[in-house]
Amino acid sequence: MRSFQELADMTGRTALVVGGAGHLGRVACQVLTEQGAEVASADLTADPRTLAAQTFEVDLHDEDATRALVPTVLERFGRLDVLVHCAAYTGANALAGWATEFEDQSVAAWDRAHRVNTTSAFVLAQAARDALGSHGSGSIVLVSSIYATLAPDFRVYRGTGMHSPAGYGVSKAGLAQLMRYLSTLLAPTVRVNAMSPGGVWRDQPTAFVERYEHGTPLARMATEEDVAGAIAYLASDLSAYVTGIDLVVDGGRSVW
Ligand SMILES: NC(=O)c1ccc[n+]([C@@H]2O[C@H](COP(=O)([O-])OP(=O)(O)OC[C@H]3O[C@@H](n4cnc5c(N)ncnc54)[C@H](O)[C@@H]3O)[C@@H](O)[C@H]2O)c1
Repeated sequence: MRSFQELADMTGRTALVVGGAGHLGRVACQVLTEQGAEVASADLTADPRTLAAQTFEVDLHDEDATRALVPTVLERFGRLDVLVHCAAYTGANALAGWATEFEDQSVAAWDRAHRVNTTSAFVLAQAARDALGSHGSGSIVLVSSIYATLAPDFRVYRGTGMHSPAGYGVSKAGLAQLMRYLSTLLAPTVRVNAMSPGGVWRDQPTAFVERYEHGTPLARMATEEDVAGAIAYLASDLSAYVTGIDLVVDGGRSVW
């Protein structure tokens, strides 16, 4: 049997992290780099804190540019083994008609968010399936959310000015179903899984944090590094016999 280090080792493999300039995207880039992979990061703009061999700028609303990421990575690195989809319109996005009262949430914002949160993962999986399937080490990790399966507890948000837009959870539920669809379609050469974090602490209003912690068995919000192990596991041979799962990293919040 290979050692734990050998199973985790990604030397010689290439990973594309879409949304690699974001908070969790940067964690994915770092952990995959530490595992030995060549990492390409793609995002609207580059972030100097992203640890990647190469960064690409892409607007995921643009289907052609999104699709073209895959041949660009192949040209630069010669292969593609792992696709991590981390990009999203989250509840923190300032787009008008998005993270606001339900009656003010707009179809335009809903459509734009779905384009990034869900449609771009579909486009990238289509573009990357052959490359991912050609070396026996293909893995897609779709970063979802507990709101793919849970309703927001709106009592936690009350009076804080924060909102969880309907389109967010719906887009993540779509992503979760895309994961299941791809996990059987692309088997046995490519594994496809989701990873669903709970709320990550970002200095939110105290009332929100206290209520959130109260509803979480591990009694705290997530930190960025809490997702590192899940990414490392799902991307590498540590999870070689795992496909079609949603790995929930939420401090037990969804157990209650
Ligand atoms: N932060 C949380 O509490 C939390 C909880 C559960 C799930 N998630 C999920 O984790 C993932 C990462 O979230 P995060 O907290 O790091 O958010 P983030 O906003 O820091 O990162 C999202 C990234 O997506 C990129 N992006 C958005 N629109 C884009 C576009 N049109 N083209 C290219 N890139 C685009 C942004 O530039 C950003 O870098 C998301 O899928 C999010 O839904 C986050």
